[in-house]
Amino acid sequence: MKHLLSIKELSQTQLLDILALAKKIKANPAEYRRALDGKSVVMLFEKPSLRTRVSFDIGINKLGGHCLYLDQQNGALGERESVADFATNISCWADAIVARTYLHSTIEKLAQYGSVPVINALSDLYHPCQALADFLSLSEQFDDISQARLAYVGDGNNVTHSLIYGAAILGLTMTVICPEGYFPDALVVMEAQALAEQNGGKLTLSADINQIEGHDAIYTDTWISMGDETSLAEIKERFSPYQVNAELMAKAGAKYFMHCLPAHRGVEVTDEVIDGKGSLILDQAENRMHAQNAVLVTLLS
Ligand code: CP
Ligand code: NVA
Repeated sequence: MKHLLSIKELSQTQLLDILALAKKIKANPAEYRRALDGKSVVMLFEKPSLRTRVSFDIGINKLGGHCLYLDQQNGALGERESVADFATNISCWADAIVARTYLHSTIEKLAQYGSVPVINALSDLYHPCQALADFLSLSEQFDDISQARLAYVGDGNNVTHSLIYGAAILGLTMTVICPEGYFPDALVVMEAQALAEQNGGKLTLSADINQIEGHDAIYTDTWISMGDETSLAEIKERFSPYQVNAELMAKAGAKYFMHCLPAHRGVEVTDEVIDGKGSLILDQAENRMHAQNAVLVTLLS
């Protein structure tokens, strides 16, 4: 494993190894206090962040490494100098690059031209660090994660893509329910369906919200992702049958609710559900750090 650009590059063994290492780091942080001794990580962010930025910064600190945040939210990446020059220059000093970008191709270019590992901290296509934390959170609830039945409801987006690949690699049963026109990328679905079949999992897509029945966890995300100019008023009516509320949780028979955050309370999810007993949102948020630290240790030591 050289980079983490997308979950799809991981074998089942690599993915399970990262989850196992994350659990070890979480349980015994003192053992990893010097794991990144002398290592520096540059974080480039073209978009805002709370969880990703803080969990990488504090996580790297806990591993004894050093982290430098480069704010690119004014659109400077690729403008003042090329992405390739960014990558080659940063590689002179840093040991890894963590990048949150608009275009996934920017992350690919950083990996192509740089000589250090690159970690995708969210692009228009994928959010692999999020999915790793999500599967870590699910694996804390299920002895055998492949037995978890996961439903994703709402907009088919970057988070959906990473979840779909991860579920397929781990052999989960996953159902993705989106309004017509908001399905995940067809190529991602095709590749994930093949992977699911190989690994004894099942990936189903539907626009019919009644397909929610028979799932252990319901996951949702914002209906409008960063960089999407669509107004909420424009899509609210279209998406309202897909809101995760108590009625939908009951219909699914779902014990757990998941969301990558930031959440829009009263929009894609009700307060009752997101603050309810089965909500895993803070496990997911905390596990961002442990999962990312496992990736950093794997890539850098
Ligand atoms: N879930 C997530 O990536 O949150 P941030 O956008 O706050 O980093
Ligand atoms: N799909 C969301 C995820 C935010 C963490 C976005 O890209 O804005």
